[in-house]
Amino acid sequence: MSDFKSEINNYITSTFKFEDELLKGVLEEQKNAGGPMMNIGADQAKFISLLIQTSKSRNILELGSYFGYSSIWIGRALQDLKNLEANDELAYSLTCVEYSSKQAEIVKNNLDKAALAKIASVVNLDAKSYLAKLVEEKPLSLDMIFIDADKVNYPHYLEQAAKLLKPGAILLVDNVLGLHEYEVLEENTEDKRIKAIQEFNSQLANSDVFNGTILTVHAGLAMAVKN
Ligand SMILES: C[S@@+](CC[C@H](N)C(=O)[O-])C[C@H]1O[C@@H](n2cnc3c(N)ncnc32)[C@H](O)[C@@H]1O
Repeated sequence: MSDFKSEINNYITSTFKFEDELLKGVLEEQKNAGGPMMNIGADQAKFISLLIQTSKSRNILELGSYFGYSSIWIGRALQDLKNLEANDELAYSLTCVEYSSKQAEIVKNNLDKAALAKIASVVNLDAKSYLAKLVEEKPLSLDMIFIDADKVNYPHYLEQAAKLLKPGAILLVDNVLGLHEYEVLEENTEDKRIKAIQEFNSQLANSDVFNGTILTVHAGLAMAVKN
């Protein structure tokens, strides 16, 4: 992140103090594990929470959960919506798809710690196979999909999202400007992930099914509404 961007980001997060001890603990766990810090930013997560609240998205799918940082944010927003609506006839669910069995177990534990086990579940499968199954069994059933898994499959995930989201439902996709910052600007990149992201962006921009844009938060968040 550029110095200016990280300064602005620090200003926002220190002003709003988005994270409680539990979320800070998940980030600490992630850091101690020694891998990359691949979670979305707190400001991004807050924006997604606000979208869930305003759009009343009750059935949500997340692809790629890692340590469960974004899953906890989404699960909490869903729980808040459920409490607000207080209607036993409505169903609420977050499904987190994570193909690493080690990460899936960690996500499960963290959702438990956040008291979200009743509303959020973890599926330890490859997103591609899970989506194929869902398209078959429950087409047009979702209110929101948040994609943050392997970038090479972004174009495929867009195609499947069109079959799974209800009309008026929301698609959110992280890293649509790059892996760290703005690698999509490299026209002749050899990186398969960046090429796939560029293809995804062009498909989204020219789609008859989705009406979308890209927000320049962190490494870019695409937001689109299904027609
Ligand atoms: C960027 S991290 C997710 C971060 C998480 N959304 C957050 O903000 O806290 C990407 C995750 O996607 C998982 N993943 C990668 N390819 C996948 C696939 N084909 N199916 C399911 N999960 C996948 C990885 O194991 C990793 O945990």
